[in-house]
Amino acid sequence: RIAGPSSIVFFGVTGDLARKKLLPAVYDLAHRGLLPPSFGLVGFGRRDWSHEEFAGEVRSHVEEHTRTGFDEDVWNQLAAGIRFVSGGFDDDDAFDALKDTLDELDRSQGTQGNHAFYLSIPPKSFEPVCAQLSRHGLAEHEDGGPFKRVVIEKPFGHDLASARELNTVVESVFPPDAIFRIDHYLGKETVQNLLALRFANQFFEPLWNANNVDHVQITMAEDIGIGGRAGYYDGVGAARDVIQNHLLQLLALTAMEEPISFDADHLRAEKEKVLSAVVVPEDPEANSARGQYKSGWQGGEKVTGFLDEEGFNPESTTETFAAIRLEINTRRWAGVPFYLRAGKRLGRRVTEIAVVFKKAPAVLFGDDAGLGHNAVVVRVQPDEGATIRFGSKVPGTQREVRDVSMDFSYGHNFTESSPEAYERLILDVLLGEPPLFPRHEEVELSWKILDPFEEAWAASDSRPEQYEPGSWGPQSAHDLLARDGRTWRRP
Ligand code: BG6
Repeated sequence: RIAGPSSIVFFGVTGDLARKKLLPAVYDLAHRGLLPPSFGLVGFGRRDWSHEEFAGEVRSHVEEHTRTGFDEDVWNQLAAGIRFVSGGFDDDDAFDALKDTLDELDRSQGTQGNHAFYLSIPPKSFEPVCAQLSRHGLAEHEDGGPFKRVVIEKPFGHDLASARELNTVVESVFPPDAIFRIDHYLGKETVQNLLALRFANQFFEPLWNANNVDHVQITMAEDIGIGGRAGYYDGVGAARDVIQNHLLQLLALTAMEEPISFDADHLRAEKEKVLSAVVVPEDPEANSARGQYKSGWQGGEKVTGFLDEEGFNPESTTETFAAIRLEINTRRWAGVPFYLRAGKRLGRRVTEIAVVFKKAPAVLFGDDAGLGHNAVVVRVQPDEGATIRFGSKVPGTQREVRDVSMDFSYGHNFTESSPEAYERLILDVLLGEPPLFPRHEEVELSWKILDPFEEAWAASDSRPEQYEPGSWGPQSAHDLLARDGRTWRRP
């Protein structure tokens, strides 16, 4: 589906996310023919740019980061609707100017009063910006009239209490169905495919439960460090940065029951049900691990340790690696541990979900035949696809069995290219399609799961354990599974 006539306003337009992902995503949507000819792209920020200067900036980011290739005609059409409004978030004149700019785009580009406001800004600025939008009549909307929508980037608060406050602020200006909370993992093709894998097929679902599954591991490993992001990351850490949102969303999609339709309410209700059933261990510290990467060598390069990165307090206890153990108290999952881990400067960049099955009874092939655990591994990125691991007889006269894998990879099976997560999500905002956006209840439930871990870590005498860059995290993360007689998969 193609978006209707509309304008999108980006706050935080000079930030990393806007430059690398958001602005190129808008261009790529235009290149794929998914934006209407009547379209406005407005940047709002402190720089003293003219419309043309801003368009020049956008062009350079697009040229560098486009996934569909740069095309002069597509660019010219998009550029006709590019505007910049200069000012701070407390600047009333600037918000008046924003209103005039949007009115002008309605007239010159035919954007028909449909406006989306994308807040790619620190959470402390959500409130002043929402208040300004409201005060200047930019959020006013009538039933059946043109849409006014707001898009907010994570983190949605710092804990449950602040998430609730933030929500009250945003909902005092926009109605719930006009609020789009971005968790870009939900825009990833492989994450959406989890639903197809589980519910469009017959042979996974009968096995997808505590009778057959031994445990589930969800890994989000990155090889990059935090250099340059001190302002955001210090005091946040791996758990708040990605476990509270991306990994708990992956857990929800892996563990939830089949929704009765793709309708946003049905999908979100199933995710909320499973998140409400998550049991946080009584001793969160004993059921988790935290780490910070040290200085050292990674991939032949010397890298700076977290505590020596510029802008960080050398005493910081912010973790760059976190692992937690959870259980889900439902008929389907009772007794099955879900291990979640996320970290920076690990062995390589990989996100995957591994559903590890119980061992088959060693009746015919004895215990020493080499039988491993069967597993279904969904590779979210970078080598998108899925693997099924099972045992096969090793050729020869002995009765030895060895693990082998059957592989599905997007590259081999499809010629269609996957849109970038942000393309899909920005298009859905313009179309008013909410299924891929978590609603407030999910955000709250996720904080309820994470808060006890954060509180235990904050109260603890111990510091995050140092780990080597390029490794798979601190020893305590390995011990966490070893205590249960298990090991992390080596992706
Ligand atoms: C963001 C986190 O949400 O996701 C970053 O704030 C992280 O710290 C990023 O690097 C990873 O996204 P992706 O799509 O590259 O896995």
